[in-house]
Formats: sequence, C-alpha cells, structure tokens
Amino acid sequence: AKDLITMEQLSVEEIENILQTAREMKNVLKRDIKKIPTLRGKAIINLFYEASTRTRTSFELAGKYMSADVINISTSTSSVVKGESLKDTGLTLEMMGADIVVIRHSMSGAPQMLGQYLRARVINAGDGFHEHPTQALLDMMTMKEHLGELKGLKVAIIGDILHSRVARSNIHGLTKMGAQVWLCGPPTLIPHGLEKLGVKVTYDINEALQDAQVVMMLRIQLERQKAGLFPTLREYSQLFGLNRERLQLAAKDCLVLHPGPMNRGIEISGEVADGLHSVINEQVTHGVAVRMALLYLMLGQKEEW
Ligand code: CP
Repeated sequence: AKDLITMEQLSVEEIENILQTAREMKNVLKRDIKKIPTLRGKAIINLFYEASTRTRTSFELAGKYMSADVINISTSTSSVVKGESLKDTGLTLEMMGADIVVIRHSMSGAPQMLGQYLRARVINAGDGFHEHPTQALLDMMTMKEHLGELKGLKVAIIGDILHSRVARSNIHGLTKMGAQVWLCGPPTLIPHGLEKLGVKVTYDINEALQDAQVVMMLRIQLERQKAGLFPTLREYSQLFGLNRERLQLAAKDCLVLHPGPMNRGIEISGEVADGLHSVINEQVTHGVAVRMALLYLMLGQKEEW
C-alpha cells in the first residue's frame, strides 16, 4: 500500500516487520548520537488539524533523527483558516516536495481521501473516531517488550470506546496478533456490535480486569461528547476509574497503558499512573521508535513495504 491509514489494512507479517524495525530504531535512540543519515533529502510534513503533543512531536523527532527535513503546519496559522480545502492544501504541500504527509483530522476518512489525491505517501495520525494506527503499533511494541508474544494475552481496554480511534486501531491490531481483547465502559460509551470484531464486551470493570495482563485506560473525550456525559464524571470515575484496589484483580505482573493525555483522577488515579505497573512513559519513547520505523520503511522503499 502507498499509505498507512489503518491497522485493519496491515497483515500480521507487516505488523511484525514494523515492530522488529522499531526495536532496531530503539537501539539507535539509546546511542549518544541519535542522528543517522538514512532519510537525508526527504521531506516530511506534519499536517495537524487537531491538537497533539505526543504524535506530532514524535513524528518530527523521528524524521529529524534520520536527517529528513520536517515541517509542521499549524492549521490555525495556515490558509486552511481562509477556507482552503484538504485537497488543495495537500496538493500545495506535494508541489513543494513533500515525500510524506502525516495528517491528523477530526473527520474519519480524511487521511484516506488525502491519499487518493496525492502521489506522496500519507500516514494517518488519528482521524475522528476511526483509527490511530501508529498509536496501536507503539502500544503493541510496549506489550511485546515486556510480555513477549501478544498471542493469548488478555488485554482489557477500558473507558470511552465510542470516541476512541486508539481503541479501534488496537482492536484490529491485537485481535490479528491473537490477543484476547476485552472492552469495558458504560453502555453509553460502547457502540453496539463490536463483538463481531472478535472482542468481548463487558460493562463490569471487575470482569474486564480479572487476570488481565494488560490494562489500557482510555481518556474520556469530553470535547467529543456533544450531548453531555452520561454517567457524570463523578459516577464515571467511581464505576470505571482505575485505582490501586481495582488493579489488584489484574495479573500480578500486569502492565498499565494509557495513550495520553491523561485525565488524572478521572479514568486513572495518579497513584496508578505513576505506579510500578505503569508503562505510560515507555509508550511515549516507543512512539518515536515506531514512527522512525515507519518513515524508514515507507521512504526507503518505492512500492510495497
Ligand atoms: N496519544 C496521542 O495521540 O497523543 P497526542 O494527542 O498528544 O498526539
């Protein structure tokens, strides 16, 4: 494929190749001099229509560590505010020499559409409620580093599943790799019919946590809750927040993940976020390694990768 839009599109072999390459990139990151010349002469443009700290910065650093030229477009200071379309914006960037456009957009499907307009490669950095494939890859890398194989792992994904592109990408990726995925949250925040993707759904956090080897907490996305939140934040936190007592139900050596940004004290207590089981900071580092791997694989080879 020319573009990376979804985890759904990737085969098991492609996922394994990306994760193996990311492991090698992590070794590059451990060296004193991180900069390698691999992508000299290549241009990467970050086109973010939504806010981001981790994804945008890690793509920028990943490109720079490999000597690519990386440009960030802030849509609030670009001609997007004058009404320029996604197509025209993308073509303009391509005509300036972009080899890869990394796009985040509030509309599901925007990266796929952009990819159809451009010869440059497109990476989805999160589109609406749809997918966030590079987040799932860094999550899977983190799980593999600690637990070895993904096959057979019980992974509980807890929280605002409805609005979560992170959940959707992880569901596709993890089920493909043979993990046993449990989804948990209030019925108002879990869409119907997800079981057909090969996951288990429960509204009882204790059932989701029981013997889970990985607990992935999701941010409650208040900015996307047009009709208000039900249950209320206080109820949500009481029913679905992860705290030290609840975590004792999970496997002894379980991992706690969160894609960030966190609402401390709502979906996760500060004590758990900073606790022994938390690998949240490692996820951030793996974000750079995974994005280096993808840029390398996508810019180093002409067609398939
Ligand atoms: N996890 C994630 O996508 O974080 P940002 O929104 O900060 O990029």
